[in-house]
Amino acid sequence: MPTKAPTDLRSQFPALAQEVNGKPLAYLDNASTTQRPAVVLEAMQCFYQHDNANVHRGVHALSQRATDEFDAARSTVAKFIHASNANSVIFTKGCTESINLVAATWGFQNIREGDRVLVSTMEHHANIVPWQVATERAGAVVEPVPIFDDCSLDMEALESMLKKGRAKVVAVKHVCNASGTVNPIGEITKLAHEHGAVVMIDGAQGLAHQAVDVQALDVDFYSIASHKVYGPMGFGALYGKPEHLEGMPPYQTGGGMIRSVSFEETIYAAVPDKFEPGTPNVAGAIGLARALDWVTEVGLDRIQAVEHELGRSCTEQLQDVPGVRIIGTAPGKASIVSFVMEQAHPHDVGTILDSEGVAVRTGQHCCHPLLDRMGVPATTRASISVYNNEEDIDSLMRGVKRVAQLFG
Ligand code: ALA
Repeated sequence: MPTKAPTDLRSQFPALAQEVNGKPLAYLDNASTTQRPAVVLEAMQCFYQHDNANVHRGVHALSQRATDEFDAARSTVAKFIHASNANSVIFTKGCTESINLVAATWGFQNIREGDRVLVSTMEHHANIVPWQVATERAGAVVEPVPIFDDCSLDMEALESMLKKGRAKVVAVKHVCNASGTVNPIGEITKLAHEHGAVVMIDGAQGLAHQAVDVQALDVDFYSIASHKVYGPMGFGALYGKPEHLEGMPPYQTGGGMIRSVSFEETIYAAVPDKFEPGTPNVAGAIGLARALDWVTEVGLDRIQAVEHELGRSCTEQLQDVPGVRIIGTAPGKASIVSFVMEQAHPHDVGTILDSEGVAVRTGQHCCHPLLDRMGVPATTRASISVYNNEEDIDSLMRGVKRVAQLFG
């Protein structure tokens, strides 16, 4: 069986113990993807070494063990987000597929000509483009909900837009990957429901840093990206309210999602199988579940305290560098620090930082409308996780100061 997590956090992540360009790695690209603790890697390897078999398809021992682990993983995810029922968790390839699933199925059934889908200006392309496709098909429209200069959502504008009527969906991210804004998703959901709209929350950046209780929040749909919460890449989940999932048509079809098939009639399986055709990513589910257990073992309070302190320190030090402008200053923001330097393009900043062993993301972060709104072509983004420390921030600052010297 996989081992229990030891107490020292950083040493649990094998990928962090390396040098890059002769310098200790300072991994500050956690909004792109987090690293994985050894317990997650071990859990996945353990599955492949001991229990590897297809699920829900065999009576032999390995198949039954694999099925038990796969089903247990679904329960772990459901428990982590406080879903009332494990069957309201659909396994997907990640947030992008989760949102596409909702837009293509719920959207297909419910969005009609003349309807409106309200999407925040700070959305990731994954929570914009699926709605553009769904509305185009139906003859409906996507309307951007404005944001303020600090990258917080204009709630009054959202309310006025909802009051105009015919808003079917409000699509908002929990935490903004480019600006760090934490959206008030409970309040947004309440407002949307008062006006008859359902809510699609892109939870990509939420789950690793914020407590998520889908019942208390009353969200209709919440997407999960495993690789942003210490789990494997290419895997994720969709939470949907049971009443929505029951009525939605399948997204993809094939084996495993049917009760019976004949050339006269095919009857679909119950939720969640209806949405999971084909052989599932069993190791992915096991890895995600182990990652969520790891988060529980570490404790969200500890995670938030570490990240908050490093985010504050990083922001304050950057603000002291002449020519630096922080993009995203909303109150209560997460520890995602996006910035531009008047001395150099973000790609040059990223290259210099790499030479110092510092990994950051540079570019548009799949948020073209947000960057257009902020009037910048790209940013450099340092995104912090619980395993980061002050030395990582020191390395970042050394690199930023070098950029200021070289290009200033
Ligand atoms: N959406 C991910 C990011 O913000 C990939 O970097």
